[in-house]
Amino acid sequence: MKSMNRFFEESKVRVEGYAAEAEMLRAAHEFSVASVKAKYSYNFHSLGVPIIQYPQDIVAMQELIWSVKPDLIIETGIAHGGSLVQSAAMLALLDMSDAIISGDSLDPRASARTVLGIDIDIRSHNREAIEAHPMSSRIRMIEGSSVSEEVVDQVREFAKEYSRVMVCLDSNHTHEHVLAELNAYAPLVSVGSYCVVFDTFINDMPGDSYPDRPWDSGDNPKTAVREFLESNGQFLIDKAIDSKLIITVAPDGYLQRVSE
Ligand SMILES: C[S@@+](CC[C@H](N)C(=O)[O-])C[C@H]1O[C@@H](n2cnc3c(N)ncnc32)[C@H](O)[C@@H]1O
Repeated sequence: MKSMNRFFEESKVRVEGYAAEAEMLRAAHEFSVASVKAKYSYNFHSLGVPIIQYPQDIVAMQELIWSVKPDLIIETGIAHGGSLVQSAAMLALLDMSDAIISGDSLDPRASARTVLGIDIDIRSHNREAIEAHPMSSRIRMIEGSSVSEEVVDQVREFAKEYSRVMVCLDSNHTHEHVLAELNAYAPLVSVGSYCVVFDTFINDMPGDSYPDRPWDSGDNPKTAVREFLESNGQFLIDKAIDSKLIITVAPDGYLQRVSE
């Protein structure tokens, strides 16, 4: 344990020093710009299901889920379902760890922990693959716009049964949409837990990097986070995560709820 603590302390000091590593930060930015053009986020899968994320953020989510130990993860933006499966697999590991520690027997399908995914268009082949996946007993899905009153009401009702809630926003990336999602779902986040806003890095890209999309630098999740934080002091950007990852689609997007 002592050597593990030393590992984390050394890592913290090392990461704090990264602010002065201009060459590494420049190279990371150049990689981010080039990787958007190369559609790098479309290369990975989680337990066989395509996940549209960067590996760095997948690791960050794994660390957060282990630290927070949520019983509900609400995710907007399902696509193929990889992020739902990834989160469900982490919840399964939390269940397994609880059983090992308590000595209780474990029914692998039963769980008090759930991932709730919301998407405006859940394609039938994606739904079938998610429902057939071994992690499916921990996954629930709602089809509809994440900002519609009907969907928001359903999610609020669903969340009442849970006590440690995490939220991940990864659907439509315009300022207006993400701000509406933040206003609807961030209040459900438990103190100490996180609201993760993906694709804030759009703001750091050269203009017109997404010619076929309604978002761009100046109108994206990062601008929405800035506006949201102006009137929601219960949330703080966890800068330590950005500093450690260096390459992330969510700079300034890992928001921790620090008070009621
Ligand atoms: C980037 S993908 C999600 C990727 C997924 N989280 C993953 O990691 O694999 C964005 C998804 O958001 C969905 N979407 C777009 N507008 C939406 C809206 N208004 N409400 C809910 N989902 C929406 C799209 O249908 C698409 O499946």
